[in-house]
Amino acid sequence: MARWSSAGSRCSWRRLAIFSLTCLLIFQLYSFFSRVGKEVENMKHLLALHPVPLRQLEQVEQMILLPPHGLRHPHKINLNDEFLNSSSRARNIFFPREAIDPKTDLDNNGHHCYPGRIWLDTDGNPIQAHGGGILFDERSSTYYWYGEYKNGLTYRANGTGTARVDVIGVGCYSSKNLWAWKFEGIVLAAEERNETHDLYKLNVLERPKVIYNKKNHKYVMWMHIDDATYNKASVGVAISDSPTGPFEYLYSLRPNGFDSRDMTVFKDENGMAYLIYSSLRNKEIHITSLNEDYLDVTDKMVRALVGQHREAPAVFKHEGIYYMVTSGCSGWAPNEAMVHEAESIYGPWETIGNPCVGANKEFRVATFFAQSTFVLPMPGGASGWFVFMADRWNPSDLRDSRYVWLPLSVRGRKERYIGVPLWSRVSIFWHEKWRIPTRRD
Ligand code: DGJ
Repeated sequence: MARWSSAGSRCSWRRLAIFSLTCLLIFQLYSFFSRVGKEVENMKHLLALHPVPLRQLEQVEQMILLPPHGLRHPHKINLNDEFLNSSSRARNIFFPREAIDPKTDLDNNGHHCYPGRIWLDTDGNPIQAHGGGILFDERSSTYYWYGEYKNGLTYRANGTGTARVDVIGVGCYSSKNLWAWKFEGIVLAAEERNETHDLYKLNVLERPKVIYNKKNHKYVMWMHIDDATYNKASVGVAISDSPTGPFEYLYSLRPNGFDSRDMTVFKDENGMAYLIYSSLRNKEIHITSLNEDYLDVTDKMVRALVGQHREAPAVFKHEGIYYMVTSGCSGWAPNEAMVHEAESIYGPWETIGNPCVGANKEFRVATFFAQSTFVLPMPGGASGWFVFMADRWNPSDLRDSRYVWLPLSVRGRKERYIGVPLWSRVSIFWHEKWRIPTRRD
């Protein structure tokens, strides 16, 4: 009897173990499929907002040119060679003559973005906001786009031979929907005569970014300030009471004594702000916090991406994780973007890889022939979706550089299954055309 009951209890323990394992397996399978289901739903919703024009991508993939005189067969083109050749017959792929015009496109194509097309403002002039960034002003529920106003002649700088346009100033545009932009003027203008001034027209002013300081109600602009040979390598600060300026230029500085070239600023949810800049001749990125009024750096500074030679940093945050998109260093020529991730703004920063998805390989390894400048949350509230803003520089005529704006998605760590990511974490999706959602979408 006793033997029977001990065998019985062994048997029920085994049953219990099998039952528990089966429950665990069912639970794991259920949570796996419900996560996949949720992802698929999310993707469906977003694909409806941003349909991928597959046929157009295939056309780019199979682009062929007519044979040059004397040759019989058409030849497949090398897109990178064609991009760098300003008299290429494929020029129209990168610098199309068509324009996005908020006055005429409203009915059929309203709110559509065509990366690389000329983008007209509401007065019908091409937008001049290169190397720019966007501030969403909560007080007026308005977006402000600040960037380099480059509407001048391109020429080669003495000594370096780098293509340049004399400094004109920082252009500012306002919009309620990120698509129809009204020109608000040059909110920080170059100095025409004073050769000792940082903003003297023969110097360099690049990548202006504006953040709002809630404590003193000031709009603060940070920008890359340099001389024509890029040896001053400093960062400039300007201030205004209004997002549309005029901004008063205060000074330039070398943050904590270090050289600073391409840069950005990032304002965190808690009001802390940071300057992120390429330093030590672009060998590494430095991150330093700004003081309370955002007018200076503090001495808290860290070195990141040491030895990686990155520039054009664009920082954003999702679900408590910081991300940074950077470019390589090749002047105005495009190169491969990388995305980096960190749990604290001060690092350690991990390089994840190239976020570009779609089009063809030549497009992906050249960041769609553009360079990062800013990342902002996608209007419409879709979690994990952002607008990636980049510049397609045209070194033979810098004022005709184009804007490449594309949807960027972050699939968070929570969406991984047993440590394995379900989707690549940060992706920038190529589109020939996509619609910027409105704030109500
Ligand atoms: C690359 C930088 O990202 C641009 O902002 C500009 O400084 C060019 N170099 C100049 O060659």
